[in-house]
Amino acid sequence: MKLPRQFYRPLAIGAPEPFRELPVRLERMIHFVPPHNDKMRAKVPELVRQVDVVLGNLEDAIPADAKEAARAGFIKMAEETDFGTTGLWTRINCLNSPWVLDDITEIVAAAGNKLDVMMLPKVEGPWDVHYLDQLLAQLEARRGVTKPILIHAILETAEGVKNVEAIAQASPRMHGISLGPADLAASRGMKTTRVGGGHPDYKVLSDPGGDAPRQSAQQDPWHYTIARMVDACQANGIKAFYGPFGDFADLDACEAQFRNAFLLGCAGAWSLHPTQISIAKRVFSPDPGEVDFAKRILAAMPDGTGAVMIDGKMQDDATWKQAKVIVDLARLVAS
Ligand code: GLV
Ligand code: MG
Repeated sequence: MKLPRQFYRPLAIGAPEPFRELPVRLERMIHFVPPHNDKMRAKVPELVRQVDVVLGNLEDAIPADAKEAARAGFIKMAEETDFGTTGLWTRINCLNSPWVLDDITEIVAAAGNKLDVMMLPKVEGPWDVHYLDQLLAQLEARRGVTKPILIHAILETAEGVKNVEAIAQASPRMHGISLGPADLAASRGMKTTRVGGGHPDYKVLSDPGGDAPRQSAQQDPWHYTIARMVDACQANGIKAFYGPFGDFADLDACEAQFRNAFLLGCAGAWSLHPTQISIAKRVFSPDPGEVDFAKRILAAMPDGTGAVMIDGKMQDDATWKQAKVIVDLARLVAS
């Protein structure tokens, strides 16, 4: 059963009311920073001017003996930086880890009024979101946090994919879901050592016969999951994101993977390396030629109904809606 946003309220007295509608923000790239690294942290004030979201990562890629330092570094970064309109997120450790309770309690206590979103890894079902939702409600009430901290789930286990619709509708705090292709590959028993992207052996061959050599074409192993995640998110008014792309040297493949996600309905992707920031900015902003064409559709059908021909192509109520998606995004990028 789908819970309307206003139904599932935090129970704590004094907790902020959950958002009825999500704040509309541009989140083309979620840029990951390892907060225990002083050199990387020193770059955050400059990063804030380049990216839509800065995320302090506490989970995978942070060594076990640096978990406390990463948490302390994130709090310092939150306290010392003026984020302006740039989003501030953290990825906490997973719910059965020894670090997560301190991640949640210490961060809400010290940075609850600056934090926009908590990214929750390895979400397997709505129960994981409910746990964090209630904990946040208690801590927000106790610490006088005035706006609810949103939850962003990573879809990175086979069980999570099975339950993706229930996860998307688990709480009015749900901000969105990201694909986590590395953990998901392991959980599914996929035979790869890559972080996202294609694989040269995942392909189809053209039929044999004739004189021409058989052609092979690589396929996108993430197509099914991205499409499923986008449907679950859009049906519940939240946003879908592609996650990490691990081959920092292959900018073309990163761009192709991000573009597939954008065309399928994702709002953004993670950037793990500075070179991926400009790729995400370009890919997740609508193409100017497409925006011009979309504006012509809106202008030709002022009330959004009927049928017209533009440059030999049929337009009707449905393409008016498609055009509106593109023009709305262009407006957000321009604002
Ligand atoms: C991200 O966390 C992933 O596992 O791909
Ligand atoms: Mg992961």
